[in-house]
Parts: sequence; C-alpha cells; structure tokens
Amino acid sequence: MTTVGIDLISFYTPQYFLDLKTLAEKRGVDFNKFYTGLGQEKMAIPPPDEDIVTMAASAARPILDQTDPSEIELLLFGTESGVDQSKAAAMFAHGLLKLPTRCRGFEVKEACYAGTAALQLAIPWALRNPGKKALILASDIARYDLNSPGEPTQGAGAIAMLVGVNPRIMAIEPESGLYASDVMDFWRPNYRDEAVVDGKYSMRVYIAALEEAWRQYHALSGRGLADMARFCYHLPFTKMAEKAHVRLAKTAGVANLSPEDMEHQMGESLHYNRITGNTYAASLYEGLCSLLDNCTKDLAGKRVALFSYGSGCMGEFFSGILQADYRKHLYSAAHKNLLDNRTELTYQQYEDVFQLGCPTDGGDHTFAQYRTGVYRMKGISQHKRLYEALT
Ligand code: CAA
Repeated sequence: MTTVGIDLISFYTPQYFLDLKTLAEKRGVDFNKFYTGLGQEKMAIPPPDEDIVTMAASAARPILDQTDPSEIELLLFGTESGVDQSKAAAMFAHGLLKLPTRCRGFEVKEACYAGTAALQLAIPWALRNPGKKALILASDIARYDLNSPGEPTQGAGAIAMLVGVNPRIMAIEPESGLYASDVMDFWRPNYRDEAVVDGKYSMRVYIAALEEAWRQYHALSGRGLADMARFCYHLPFTKMAEKAHVRLAKTAGVANLSPEDMEHQMGESLHYNRITGNTYAASLYEGLCSLLDNCTKDLAGKRVALFSYGSGCMGEFFSGILQADYRKHLYSAAHKNLLDNRTELTYQQYEDVFQLGCPTDGGDHTFAQYRTGVYRMKGISQHKRLYEALT
C-alpha cells in the first residue's frame, strides 16, 4: 500500500534568547511562575536581520542539500506573521531557496494551525503526484505586548517538511478529528505587530477543540489512547500541553495519569519548546522534532498522536506511524548544535530589539549583520525586502 507523509523534517530557531529568569526579575515576579507555572525557561529572539522568511529558508536548507529541487512542485508557507499583505512568504522563500519555476507556491493562514493546514493539503497532492515532493514551511515570531501576561510565552522558530509518498520519517494516517469555531481567543489585527489575547479563554477553547477533535478521531479510527506510543501537542507553552494531555486522558476514560506516564507519553516532545518559546505554526512540528531527536527508544512502527490548534479557531487530532530507519534521516545533531550555541541577551538588549520595528517609509535601509542562519534580510529599499544567502 502506498503511504504518504513526512519524508524529512528540519527545525530552525534564532541564535539569541532571553532567559525567563531575567524577565521575571525585571517584571518583579517569581521566576517559578514561568519555569514551573508555564513550563518555559527561555524565549528565542530573532535579531533585526532575521524574519519568518529567513528562518524558514534556514530550516529548509539541510533538506534542499539532499533533495533534487526539480522534484519540488508544491511550496506551502504556513504563518501568522506574514511579511506582506499580498505577496506570499512562499515566493520570497522560493527565491532564496532557488526552487524551479515549475512550482505552485502560496501562503496558508489560520494562526498556529497553518502548518497542519499546509501538511494536510499536501497529502492528497502528493498521492496524485507520486514522483514529486511538497515542501512545507511553517515559521512564526510570537510577539505580545511588553509586560503583558503573554510576554513570557513569546518565541520564534521555523519548521521545514518534505512531504511525499513512501516517506522516510512518518506516514500520516487518513483519519482526522476536526473542530472549527468562530471565536476571539487570540488574534492580530492588520495594524498591530503584537497579538491580542484573552489568555484564560484561549486555554479553555484549546481544550474544547481537543476534546471534540479526539472524539471524532476515536469514532472514525476506533483507536484509543493505548494505541498511541507518544503524543505531540500544539505548544503555546509546555504546561498547556500537559494540561491538555491530562484532560484527553480523562475524556478517554483514564482518570489518573502518574507523573511517569506523563513523562513517558509526552515528555520528550516538550524539550525544545521549553527553551524557544511559542513558535505558533511551527510549534507542533517543533514538538515532533523534539520527540524524535530526544527519544532514546526506537519508535519505528509506532503511532504518534498529533494535536494541532490555531486560535480563532481550528483544531485537528490526527496520527502518524514512524517508519523503519526513521532515525537515520533526522537532523538531530544540527538541532542540538543550534540550540547549544545560542547567545543570551540582557533585558535591555531584548527590549531594544523588541522596540526596533521594521522601517515603513520606503527609503533605503541597510541592516547590521547579526548571528543568523544561512539567510538574512540585508535591508529594505523602495518598500522591498532584500534578502541574501550567506553561503
Ligand atoms: N510558582 C509556580 N507556579 C506559579 C507561580 C509560582 N510562583 N505563580 C503562578 N504560578 C502558576 C499558576 O498557578 C498558573 O498555573 P495553573 O494554570 O496550573 O494554575 C501558572 O503559573 C500561570 O499563572 P497565571 O495563570 O496567573 O498566569 P497569567 O494569567 O499571568 O498568564 C496565560 C497565563 C493566560 C497563559 C498567559 O501567559 C497568556 O495569555 N499567554 C498567551 C495565550 C496562550 O498561550 N494561550 C494558550 C492557548 S491558545 C493557543 O494555543 C494558540 C497560541 O499559540 C497562542
């Protein structure tokens, strides 16, 4: 039987971070509120010459280094942090990655669900185009107002996934539980750089979406919790996923999960988010990378449950089967190297970067060079973003 799903998956996050102990001290709160209460320790901060396009291209580079670009005929870019009202971030990335002109590219939006929307769009396309590949990019910068409850959950990062038939990493199964509802839990009007959020309400809607999506998935597939080897959740902050998992277990009839059960079922998927913060559209797949990179057990042939949530809102519960030899095709060493070699910012440096903003006068602006991935934004001229490759 032909399988379809994630053939390769690569993660990128900026090379600067703020420790939430630094933020807690400045805001006059106990750092345990962030470290334990939210389950977050660090948040990634993109330097002024990095944006969703450069992050996504940097995530994709290792995949392109081992893929014939002419195979890629679909390029989907999921993001909440679009850089242009008209031109898709996919087209900027298409240029940076030197993809062929025979390619269909566009941007996909539904808050943090956009990466999953792109993946699920690519699956029937890949089945219809078995010799071809889709490249899915999901990239976001999570920004809330300074000194707001959402501030410690900020972050940044990108995922690139190659999707095709007979995938090397994970075959996506056909059953999905879906939950769509028109709600205002988190949103970002076009005139704002920072999200507006009704935090506690957003947590309740996340849980409601999970419960309904799970019920549908269970009814369609006949599977229960015991059929899942691991669980990956959308990760606005890691404690949210832990709360979600406890609720899911109750809904599925498991009254008490021990701390050991929790750690076993989802612990490995939380490591990266805890030290990058929310990566919105990328976060579920950042969690998947974290699981695959950090799980010492070979999970080949095992099922991983995936719950995607985008405010506004859209939830989806689905699953995938890890493929034989999937561990040979991971970028675990590159991810470790990236995360272990970041530069810590002071509070003032964080606030300076936060306040910088992007020039909007249409003049010529050249950006100083910071530590970035292999792509950077070198400036803006005549309202055009100018990118460059560093290698
Ligand atoms: N030591 C240990 N824990 C502490 C503590 C301390 N000293 N002080 C507080 N805590 C605990 C609290 O008890 C609480 O835990 P519980 O929820 O388990 O009770 C936790 O720390 C957080 O404290 P508060 O509830 O008081 O925090 P808050 O109200 O200031 O902010 C928040 C929390 C509402 C989630 C806020 O961070 C926020 O608005 N975040 C952005 C929105 C968000 O992420 N929503 C998630 C669902 S929506 C979604 O998933 C889409 C998306 O990506 C945005």
